[in-house]
Amino acid sequence: MSAAALEISGLQAWYGESHVLHGVDMTVQHGEVVTLLGRNGAGRTSTMRAILGLTGSRKGSIRINGVETIHMPTHRIAHLGVGYCPEERGIFASLSTEENLMLPPVLKGMGQGMSVAEIYEMFPNLAERRASPGTRLSGGEQQMLAVARILRTGAKLLLLDEISEGLAPVIVQALARTIQTLRAKGYTIVMVEQNFRFAAPLADRFYVMEHGRMVEAFSAKELDAKMPVLNELLGV
Ligand SMILES: Nc1ncnc2c1ncn2[C@@H]1O[C@H](COP(=O)(O)OP(=O)(O)O)[C@@H](O)[C@H]1O
Ligand SMILES: [Mg+2]
Repeated sequence: MSAAALEISGLQAWYGESHVLHGVDMTVQHGEVVTLLGRNGAGRTSTMRAILGLTGSRKGSIRINGVETIHMPTHRIAHLGVGYCPEERGIFASLSTEENLMLPPVLKGMGQGMSVAEIYEMFPNLAERRASPGTRLSGGEQQMLAVARILRTGAKLLLLDEISEGLAPVIVQALARTIQTLRAKGYTIVMVEQNFRFAAPLADRFYVMEHGRMVEAFSAKELDAKMPVLNELLGV
């Protein structure tokens, strides 16, 4: 495939009257891991939601595998192979691990998603907890489940919002290994992160947002040189 996995240009978005994205440009190639950095309120979650058509309204261009999606409803966008793991994770407390896992429908025409067996191999603690209700899972297990769930659908472009947030260091390390495994399997990953130490070694490229705009874009090779700028923008 020659088209980029994701190509956003001149994206603007609103929640009702409130104008939150003011011209976002971002390109992600197939197989890349890209991290979207920014302070709280910079517009990172809104960018992810806008990609899926979940903001109030949006304008500009968002191409997924070369297909323009700006006028598409959310379910059609998802069927292009987009998996979204929202900040709030969305694990149903009353359902078991396995029921949560089976909840999102497998996307048609996307090729094979991961089988439940493959998922349990990748997340052995979920296999152990397969019959436990969502409420009984730790924060880390819930986060693993939220990521695992989108892998089953066959989505190949993963939008992961603050997956390391609030988790113990040992869980954050496990999530880092998960990202590396998914990268090796050829997934395309866009991660929103507040946790710079988690994101820095994983990403091929970085974008930084401020006030609903992209203010920096650079590759992993340029990271050292960009540290003073990041320090100023993010306090890292
Ligand atoms: N549902 C909403 N309605 C109105 N404004 C919102 C809504 N969600 C977020 N915003 C505003 O959009 C801006 C960007 O927020 P967000 O995308 O959540 O930032 P980030 O994820 O980078 O912390 C903030 O000013 C925030 O207050
Ligand atoms: Mg956010």
